Amino acid sequence: MARSTLLRWAVQSLGPTMMLRRSARAGELGPRLSVDRSLWDDPFPSYDAVRAQGDLVRGRVIHATASHAVASEVLRSPVFRVGVDSESLPPLARRMIRIASDTRYPGPAEPPSMLAVDPPQHTRYRRLVSKVFTARAVAAREPRVEAIADELLDRMAGKRSVDLVEDFAAPLPVRIIAEILGVPPSMHEQMLAWGNAAAVTLDPMLSYRSFRGAAIALREMHGWLDAHLRSVRRDPGDDLLSKLATLEDEGEHLDDVELRATALLVTGAGFETTVNLIGNGVAALLANPSQLEVLRAQPSYWENATDEVLRYDSPVQVTVRHAAEETLVAGHAVPRGQFVTLLLGGANRDPAVFADPHVFDVRRENAREHLGFSAGIHYCLGASLARLEGSVALRKLFDRFPDLAVEGQPVRRPLRVLRGFERFPVRLRQPALTA
Ligand code: HEM
Repeated sequence: MARSTLLRWAVQSLGPTMMLRRSARAGELGPRLSVDRSLWDDPFPSYDAVRAQGDLVRGRVIHATASHAVASEVLRSPVFRVGVDSESLPPLARRMIRIASDTRYPGPAEPPSMLAVDPPQHTRYRRLVSKVFTARAVAAREPRVEAIADELLDRMAGKRSVDLVEDFAAPLPVRIIAEILGVPPSMHEQMLAWGNAAAVTLDPMLSYRSFRGAAIALREMHGWLDAHLRSVRRDPGDDLLSKLATLEDEGEHLDDVELRATALLVTGAGFETTVNLIGNGVAALLANPSQLEVLRAQPSYWENATDEVLRYDSPVQVTVRHAAEETLVAGHAVPRGQFVTLLLGGANRDPAVFADPHVFDVRRENAREHLGFSAGIHYCLGASLARLEGSVALRKLFDRFPDLAVEGQPVRRPLRVLRGFERFPVRLRQPALTA
């Protein structure tokens, strides 16, 4: 494992990092945002600077956009793809890609994950998964989301201070996803650890240590999922994974590798992001008490507030596409094979679409136009579940602890693609007055 992991790290992480660093040194802001950690805490001025340079900013290795219109156009264009057609690459690059992919234990954003395949494979795959992952199935989860949130809040109520991530924002989505996948409670902690380790693989720049940790976690997770799928097939439960595993649609079904990849993606995409939605929401609301007042007076705004969090402080900040053929984007010629970074967090602060984009406004009429769930064929499959979890969690938290306040220093996760908190210490109620 060690040698092949080292090789894969060199191709997947070290090589791209060196290229991005060189472009950053040449003054390109898009790549600098990937490599300069000092920009990660507050990337928003840099997004504005990218936008000020143009709708589509050309780079030596990768183009970048923080424009809502251009990001939407690229995400919806059939020319832009997620998978690289290795046949179109020179032999050396083809070899590198072969080395870089671990076909036995792929990560949540590696083929055959739905997130990393293009039509027609994606069309068939998504159609089958959507048969089970329906709006009705998500709506049916609402009572469970409410009950789990209440249970976690009850547990917190006995304490004076808590870490919001550990005690609330993480366990809520983990338990929901675990129920969807039919994972027993004894495995929840382990799922969280695996998910945390796998989530880092979305970042382009990983130290060898993190890469190796993720590879080990992925191998263990695949092993566990293999056994879990066998048991789910033998004895299907009421969960969505059992339904997927036994689904037959017009003679089509998902094979074992696709099922494992879906379970892994739902784990990675499903709770790592929702944890961040809840944490980023708490941070935005505590920093803008007037908005909390609005929600107290008009609780019907909680759902819109959740979309405003997704816009204002997007849990997924970036995605990438590449052009499968030569094309035009916003009037700019883009050559075949060109990669484009879509700065979703920047598109969501584009003043052409959102008035006063740096203002957090829970009543914003077009908050839902954000690209926090992407757009086009890869639009987040779990968007309605995430919205449900986010709005229930935030509403219940502030209803139960109206005096909630930051205590100490919240710490952001040192990640570029996923934006959220690692630790968020809060005081639940005001200290009692002493005579
Ligand atoms: C706040 C929470 C969430 C956010 C911000 C989020 C964001 C995203 C984004 C940006 C993408 C597309 C990436 C791209 O276009 O390159 C995506 C795809 C996806 N998400 Fe989510 N997600 C969230 C929660 C969830 C949940 C709860 C689930 C499942 C239970 C889920 C399942 C998926 C799946 C399966 C895809 C791949 C869809 C496809 O490729 O067709 N996500 N998500």
